[in-house]
Amino acid sequence: MSNIKYETELHDFPNIFSLKGKVVVVTGGSRGLGLHAASGFLQAGASKVYITSRKASACQQACDTLNALPNLSPSARAIPVPADSSKIEGIEYLVKEVGKTTDHVDVLFANAGATWGESFDTHPDSAFAKVMDLNVKSVFNTIRLFAPLLQKNGTIQDPSRVIITASVAGIGIGTLGKQATFGYSASKAAVIHLAKNLAVELGPRHVLVNAIAPGFFPSKMASGLMEISGGVESLSKKNPSQRLGRPEDIAGLVVFLSSRASAHINGATITVDGGEVWARGGMAELKEEPEKAKL
Ligand SMILES: NC(=O)c1ccc[n+]([C@@H]2O[C@H](COP(=O)([O-])OP(=O)(O)OC[C@H]3O[C@@H](n4cnc5c(N)ncnc54)[C@H](OP(=O)(O)O)[C@@H]3O)[C@@H](O)[C@H]2O)c1
Repeated sequence: MSNIKYETELHDFPNIFSLKGKVVVVTGGSRGLGLHAASGFLQAGASKVYITSRKASACQQACDTLNALPNLSPSARAIPVPADSSKIEGIEYLVKEVGKTTDHVDVLFANAGATWGESFDTHPDSAFAKVMDLNVKSVFNTIRLFAPLLQKNGTIQDPSRVIITASVAGIGIGTLGKQATFGYSASKAAVIHLAKNLAVELGPRHVLVNAIAPGFFPSKMASGLMEISGGVESLSKKNPSQRLGRPEDIAGLVVFLSSRASAHINGATITVDGGEVWARGGMAELKEEPEKAKL
């Protein structure tokens, strides 16, 4: 007779998305997607959220905003740690600084990134290298150097998490033409594959690694590209869900990927783009207003 025990009960389901007491590091946390995510982490119960980017004043300002959020638990804190993730010394400094006020990290959101737009014939070597360095090599090194702190509290039942910000540009074709993003697109495809490799390497160490692939979200980085791609209204209309990304879309996804609800998801890439990447071949035109359209 088999001695396999089949579990049939859900454990504490009402708290399945809770991040109560978790320690989180957000790279590129001073604005845009990183700031949206940090806001979600804190409101889901995280006790410490380290915010890092190059500019000290931007990190401090982001933390002031985050610490003033309503509905935070009394001990919840956003903590600024300015550092340049594009340099190995910057990442070493970041890990050392974080390690001064915590003995472990539960969640690393490896989100800092850069882009460059220029046509194929003149696409500069230096820009391609800069984008690949920050978006791929630095993501790898940030995860590698945070691994000891991530492994500290990870268990089979409650593994630590790494979430990498990729992009739909790493799944479908990125922007072409005068502002083509060859390096960016290649870098985002690379980190999607990196997440799969690291999922297998770090899974047995009780650290899960997943990637998210956002479509367009208004941000400092995306605004120029959105403008040359037709602007907010036109891009919204081309999206199957008829809109662009909102802060809650990012916050909800990263909280899910950091919570017990996703404790068996490893090596996945989750798109958060309203289905836009699958509609690039063309989308049926709605003949009626969306709410009146028949199935
Ligand atoms: N917005 C979109 O539509 C979209 C879509 C798909 C993917 N993404 C990805 O989402 C991530 C965040 O982008 P975003 O749109 O939120 O852009 P953003 O608003 O421009 O934010 C970029 C963040 O990265 C930081 N950063 C840049 N270089 C850094 C470095 N060398 N070291 C440390 N931090 C650095 C910036 O702060 P400092 O300038 O102070 O360093 C800032 O906090 C990127 O990986 C991007 O590729 C964005």
